[in-house]
Formats: sequence, structure tokens, C-alpha cells
Amino acid sequence: MKEWYNKINKAINIDALEEVRIALFGKRGLLATEFAKMKDVPNEQKAQFAKDLNAHKQNLMNEFTAKKIALETEALKEAMKAEAIDVSMFSTSSSAGALHPVMETMDRIVEYFSSMNFAVKTGKMVEDDFHNFEALNLPKYHPARDMQDTFYFKDEMLLRTHTSPVQIRTMLEMKPPIRMIAPGAVFRRDYDLTHTPMFHQIEGLLVDEVGKVSFANLKFILEDFLKYMFSDVAVRFRPSFFPFTEPSAEVDISCVFCKGEGCRVCSHTGWLEVLGCGIVDPNVFEAVNYKDVSGYAFGLGVERFAMLIHQIGDLRSLFEGDIKLLEQFQ
Ligand code: PHE
Repeated sequence: MKEWYNKINKAINIDALEEVRIALFGKRGLLATEFAKMKDVPNEQKAQFAKDLNAHKQNLMNEFTAKKIALETEALKEAMKAEAIDVSMFSTSSSAGALHPVMETMDRIVEYFSSMNFAVKTGKMVEDDFHNFEALNLPKYHPARDMQDTFYFKDEMLLRTHTSPVQIRTMLEMKPPIRMIAPGAVFRRDYDLTHTPMFHQIEGLLVDEVGKVSFANLKFILEDFLKYMFSDVAVRFRPSFFPFTEPSAEVDISCVFCKGEGCRVCSHTGWLEVLGCGIVDPNVFEAVNYKDVSGYAFGLGVERFAMLIHQIGDLRSLFEGDIKLLEQFQ
């Protein structure tokens, strides 16, 4: 019997203890075998025999239960240790963030013009009528205002429809010569495949003495810039209209999708419009009290550039915050 007590105490885990249980208390276990011997015990000793055996049984059971509880507690402790999350543990698996494709495109554009000595200016997103329209030769009731419908506050304040008001703010703030770009968010009442109510523009303005700034200068820098952005593309200037420039032009690049052959994206023309530009209208200089100067200005939509560079079909997808989509452009 002693050895059975030892067996119980030496069981190293629940499984081993279970084997001991079967060997002790099972149908064919030790106790059953011992009780079976009863029939061979002389009658006068039977009572004592049974009493001793039952005492053993009780002791073994107590021993067994105590051991079982001990082993279970230990197993639980082990499991808790194994499953615990070590919050102090150092993890080497981190994923790096990346710039949003629009910001990345904006940075590249700013990089180009910075290298050409253009200063970076910021204006205000909530503008007044004077800076956004009036000083840009867009008087009230001028039909060209219809192209830039936006969101109005009271007192003729509005969300700026373009970055051109930064031209006015910069000219009112400093003396010529000026060489600036103005990147930033602008707002219009539009929403379709290629328009969102908020988007980004980059404005450019160069002002110097009369006769120092020509359309040829403008043409040179924009061609150089577009080749920097899209490498090998053809560039063409088309006469156009903006109230704040005269003459004005829209600039196209040969379609980056079909290389000018004609496809769905370029509406089978082979060309994609990418920016507006022109020679600064004298009325604009008058509005800011600049005399004897000449200048050129240009403006472009950053999302449009990002879409062409990354071949994105729906502009709105850029603002849905879908990580899976954005990760493709890292
Ligand atoms: N502000 C014009 C627009 O939003 C773009 C532009 C800027 C055109 C400067 C000419 C000169 O459409």
C-alpha cells in the first residue's frame, strides 16, 4: 500500500495521476483486488480486514484528491503563463507609414519650383470676395464666376475656389520682383469621377519689371516642369480664357496612357489638359497697386497630376481613406 501512496505523490501531471487512479480505484484496480480477497479471510477477521481496507481507501482518496487539486492548480498557472501577452515585449514587426499620393505629388511639384527659386506661400482657405474674385478681375455678376461655384459664409466670406487669391495676398504684402508658388486646398461645388468638393492646387506667379517677363519664359518653365513630372511627353499650349491673365492658355500633355494615339482617358484626342496659365492681366496689377511690372501666372490641380502619374481612374477614391488602395502607391 505504501508504494501506492508514493505513486500518487510522484505523478508529474494530470495524465499520470489518471493512470494511478485507474490502477487504484478502477474496476480491476488494487482496491477491488484487495476487497476480493475478503472471501478468503476467516470469518472472525473479516470485520477488521474490511475496516482496515476502508481506512486505506479513504486515505488514498484523500491523498488522490489533494494531489489532483495541486496538479490542476499548477497546470492552470502554466497555461496562464503561456497564454499571457507580454506587453513589455519588443516587437520588430512594424509597418512604415507613407505619404498620401496627393501629398507626395504636391511635394514633387514644390520640389521642382523650389529648385527654380520660387518661394512657397500659403494664403487662407476661408477667403473674402475681394481676394478670391474681385482683385482677380472677376467682378460681381461676371459670368466667369459661374465656373467656380463654392460654399459661402455670411459677410461675403467663402471657401476659396482656387489658389489665385494667394497671388493677391503676396503682391499686397511684398514689393516686386516676386517668384512664388502657393500649394493648398481649394473648394468647389463639384462631385463626379474627376471632381471632389475639396481638392488641391498649386499656383505660380512671377512678377518683374516691364519687359522682363514674356510668354516665352512661361512656356519654357512649364515645358521643363512637365517633362520633369511626366518624363517623355509632348506639350502644347491652347489659347483659352481666364479673367486674371491675358493672353491665357491651357496646357496639354500627350496622353500618358496611349502615348497620344487616342484612348478613352483622353477622349480619343491624344491630349490631356493639365494646367491653366497666362500673362498677368493689367487689371490685377492695378488692384494691388503695382506699376511698371509684367508677370506670368499658372495654376494646376494636384489630384489630376496624381491620377495621371498613378493611373487612378476615380478621383474620389483618393479621399475614401481606404488603406488597401493607398498602399498601392507607396
Ligand atoms: N485659378 C485658375 C483655376 O482655378 C487656374 C489659373 C491660375 C489660370 C493662374 C491661370 C493663371 O482654374
